[in-house]
Amino acid sequence: MEKRGQFTSKFGFIMASIGSAIGLGNLWGFPYKAGMGGGFAFILVYLIFVGLVGFPIMLCEFAIGRKARVNQIDAYRKFDKRFTIAGVAGTIAAFFILAFYGVLGGWVVNYAVKYGINLFSSTNTIPQPQQYFNDFVSNGASALIFFIIFMVLTVFIVIGGVENGIEKASKIMMPILFLFLILIIVRSLTLPGASKGIEFLFKPDFSKLTPSTLGMALSQMFFSLSLGIGAMITYGSYLSNDDNIQSSAIIVPLLDTVAAILAGLAIFPAVFALGLEPTQGPSLMFITLPAIFNQMYMGNVFGFMFFVLILFAALSSSIALLEIASSFFMEHFKLKRKVIIPIIAAIITLWGTPVALSFGVLGDVKVLGMGFLDFYDFIGEYVLMTFGALAISILIGWVLKPKMVIDEMEQNGKFRFMGKKYFSFTIKFIAPILILAVMIMSITSMI
Ligand code: PHE
Repeated sequence: MEKRGQFTSKFGFIMASIGSAIGLGNLWGFPYKAGMGGGFAFILVYLIFVGLVGFPIMLCEFAIGRKARVNQIDAYRKFDKRFTIAGVAGTIAAFFILAFYGVLGGWVVNYAVKYGINLFSSTNTIPQPQQYFNDFVSNGASALIFFIIFMVLTVFIVIGGVENGIEKASKIMMPILFLFLILIIVRSLTLPGASKGIEFLFKPDFSKLTPSTLGMALSQMFFSLSLGIGAMITYGSYLSNDDNIQSSAIIVPLLDTVAAILAGLAIFPAVFALGLEPTQGPSLMFITLPAIFNQMYMGNVFGFMFFVLILFAALSSSIALLEIASSFFMEHFKLKRKVIIPIIAAIITLWGTPVALSFGVLGDVKVLGMGFLDFYDFIGEYVLMTFGALAISILIGWVLKPKMVIDEMEQNGKFRFMGKKYFSFTIKFIAPILILAVMIMSITSMI
């Protein structure tokens, strides 16, 4: 059997975990949700959720992973057979999420390449962004080709293993991402009229904090921090026993949230300065932003930087997803990384093909009333990840008891952050109750 991978430094581990956390969720989900959901009021609630639920669950995932030192399915089984299902759910979630994430990643590759070419051509813009986008996504062949290119890039990194693939790539991509983000913020904030965007993002409106906004904030947080899917169990299992990882459970959620707010500062001041409507998701990324770059001095350079930044955010998340999807098969059946990674990636590509085609030939097909992208997102993000997060809080809070995590952390020094009582209370009561409340709310709103 191949030797188990291990991160070579704490910095590398943190970069990889942040890479998994920072992704499309931060860039095109958070800023818009914050803007529409009450500005600073939403951000405040989000931060409270991070402190009360995100941070304790992240600590649990790191502890489970490092203590078990195996993939998540075997890890759960080792601690309590009844919870094996949570590991299975996490692994299946990775298949669902990577299937649509990869398609979106493919779109990003297309735009990054387009802006890259534009750097050297006399036409430096995408003149009709709406038209360009519609033509691209509705053409099944091009959507599929770029999806495959993105998956090949992901395989290329993950096949290198934990140290030489995931860690190395994250150490390069993450600092560049932050650098580009800051350069773009400076540009965006100095446009005349930018202050309206800041108002959209931050102006507090507590009346917007309805149950559905709270639910949105909680699931946004799980997705953004990659919790409940076993990402941090998987990465935690590649940690050495010598590192004190308590600080990582603070740094990762913190930087993820900072990146989400910075993304808002990069995008919305420019959107408002140019008199465009705030949007989210694909239309924000692929239509509104190119429209901005069209009107901006050196728009092609900023466009290129922006799409490279998004590409890095997406890739550093997709490598985590592929590692999560593959680690059980690699370990349990003692298969070589070189063999299993391309196979799993190929399966996920097939699995994602309906998503890639759902903006063209499969446009009319609906599953449970949703298009393929929304359906995969619904199963992976809302159903399976929420279930995973609930399972962890029950396993640690009530079955193994918080002391297990505290003991694991105390191997490398005192348990510091917010104290043992805080951790025990949040993981036992706050996390499961909040998650259950949101689950009940969303089920009742669906009926
Ligand atoms: N956190 C990533 C994002 O915000 C998505 C992700 C989810 C990555 C689950 C890995 C695991 O886009």
